[in-house]
Amino acid sequence: MRKVAILTGGGDCPGLNAVIRAITKTAITKYNLDVIGYVDGYRGFVENRWRPITLNDVEDILDKGGTILGTSNSDNPFKFLKTRDSEPVDMSDICIKQMKDLGVDCLFVVGGDGTLTSGRDFSRKGFPVIGVPKTIDNDLNATEVTFGFNTAVTNAVDAMDKLKTTAESHKRIMLVEIMGRYAGWLTLETGIAGAASAILLPEIPYDLDKLCDFLKEKTENGQKYCMVAVSEGAKPKNGEVTISRIVGYSPDSVRLGGVSNKLAREIEEKTGIETRATVLGHIQRGGQTSAYDRVLSTKYGVKAMELAMEGNFGKMVAMIDGKVSYTTLEEAVGQLKNVPVDCDLVQTAKSMGVYFGE
Ligand code: F6P
Repeated sequence: MRKVAILTGGGDCPGLNAVIRAITKTAITKYNLDVIGYVDGYRGFVENRWRPITLNDVEDILDKGGTILGTSNSDNPFKFLKTRDSEPVDMSDICIKQMKDLGVDCLFVVGGDGTLTSGRDFSRKGFPVIGVPKTIDNDLNATEVTFGFNTAVTNAVDAMDKLKTTAESHKRIMLVEIMGRYAGWLTLETGIAGAASAILLPEIPYDLDKLCDFLKEKTENGQKYCMVAVSEGAKPKNGEVTISRIVGYSPDSVRLGGVSNKLAREIEEKTGIETRATVLGHIQRGGQTSAYDRVLSTKYGVKAMELAMEGNFGKMVAMIDGKVSYTTLEEAVGQLKNVPVDCDLVQTAKSMGVYFGE
C-alpha cells in the first residue's frame, strides 16, 4: 500500500471533512502513505481531476461542514453524462486505468446510497474500494447511524427553537418542513427535541381533518401556539408526496419539498387559526459539524483506513450494535431504512401526547 485516494459524492454533508481528515492523518502519520483527493465527486473522478492531500490541507477542517474536495450528486461513472443532454456512457474502465496509472492502491468512496453503489460496482470489477456512509437522512439500512445526521438534527432544532418565539407571540400554528427524503428520522428526532405538538412522517400518512381537530383542541385547551414538524416526504392519506423539482440529469431525479406551504393553507382554512410554514432547506446541512459528528466521522475515517491496511476491501464502515464495524458494499447498498411506525422513538413521543396525524 503506497497511495490512497478519497472521493466525496452526493449531496454535501457535515462530517465529510472530518472523514477526509481522519483518513489522511492516519494514512500519513501512521502508515506513511500518499493521499490524493478526487475533486467534485464522480465528475472529477471520471475527468481525472485530483489533488494531493497533505497534513496541512486537513489542519483546520474538522469542524467545517461541506467538503474541501467538492462533490457532485448527478454523476455515475457507469452511466456518465458528458453534458446534461448527452447519452450515458460507461466510463468505469477508463476510471480504473486512470487510478492504476496514478498508482492508487485503494479508493475511499464517502457518500450515500448512490455513491456507494458505484463504489460497489468498482469493487465488483476488482478494484480495491472502501465505503464510508454519509447522509443527513440517516436512511441507510446497513448502519445504525450515518455521520451528518446529528448535525442536521441540531441545526433543525435550533431553527425550531427560533421559530417558537415568533409562534408564541402571534399564537400561531407553525409548520417546520424538514429534509430526509422518504425517511422520517430527521423529522422525528427534530420534532421530539424541538417539542413539536405534532410530527408528520413519510411513513405515517396524515388525515387532514383529524390533524386540524387535534390542533384546534390544543389551542382551545389553552396551548398558546403549536409547532408541527413536517417531513418533506409527508403525504396525506390516499395522497402523494409534494415534489419541488425534477432534476432530469441526476440519477435520483425527484426533489421533494413544499408540502408544508400547502398544508399551512389547508390548516388555516379549516381551523381558522393563523398558520405559517417555514421550509428549512439546505440550512440543515450547512455550517459547523456537531461534536458528535466530528467524533463519529473520525472513528469512521480511521476504521476505513484500517480496513484498507488489512486488505479488507469491498467493505463499508458501519455502526453495528453500537460499535464501529463494517459490512460488505454488496449488502450495504440498495436498502433504505424507514422509521418503523411502532418504534421506540415514536412510542416515546406518543406517550408525551405528540400526534402523528394518523
Ligand atoms: O439526501 C440529502 C438531502 O439533503 C435530502 O434530505 C434532500 O431531500 C435532498 O438531499 C436535497 O437535494 P439537493 O441538495 O439536490 O437539493
